Amino acid sequence: MKGKFVSIEGIDGCGKSTHAKLLARWLRARGREVIITDEPTNSTIGRIIKQVLRGELRVPVAVEALLFATDRVQHVKNVIEPAVRSGKVVLNERYIYSSLVYQSARGVPAGWIKLINNYAPKPDLAILIDVPAEVALARIKPSRRLDEFERDLRLQQRVRRNYLRIAKREGLKIVDGARSCGEVQAEIRKLISAVL
Ligand code: TYD
Repeated sequence: MKGKFVSIEGIDGCGKSTHAKLLARWLRARGREVIITDEPTNSTIGRIIKQVLRGELRVPVAVEALLFATDRVQHVKNVIEPAVRSGKVVLNERYIYSSLVYQSARGVPAGWIKLINNYAPKPDLAILIDVPAEVALARIKPSRRLDEFERDLRLQQRVRRNYLRIAKREGLKIVDGARSCGEVQAEIRKLISAVL
């Protein structure tokens, strides 16, 4: 079976992880080998990024964009490409589209973000789970420690607008994530069935 690379995008609290897990279970029941992976990763660079997100390390936003791009190259080479080559379905939570929306929402020019991510191959399918920022923030468990970006409702609203703006240009499939979990999952399954 041919491997596939799927990226799942959306603002924090949109349901990416829930839908990736449900989708993986469904695909496995249909005989596919699946891995769920996400960015930032747990590599050395990914761990530096997480320090930045927690506000423990301050770097200019351009450096932040470079760190995400570096982490992504390693992720593609070490995890995504080998898995796709061996016939697996790779469900990646966040990819270059996250850099295009979050880092550009923080002032980094989109053209430059594209340039430094030139190495990252286009996924077979990119899904945007779209929910209003207020809905997403309300869903994030009160107990969870929010990172630097999650705390900021205005930033999340800007990020959502950026996602919707780039979705058409970059060919992301928009799924209305404000409906019931079952409805959202059913639409995602339809989208993936079309590329398998
Ligand atoms: P996220 O997957 O939401 O982390 P968690 O596992 O804690 O839910 O990603 C962490 C943050 O990183 C998120 O706020 C978005 C941000 N991010 C970027 O700003 N640029 C990027 O390129 C990526 C991949 C993530």
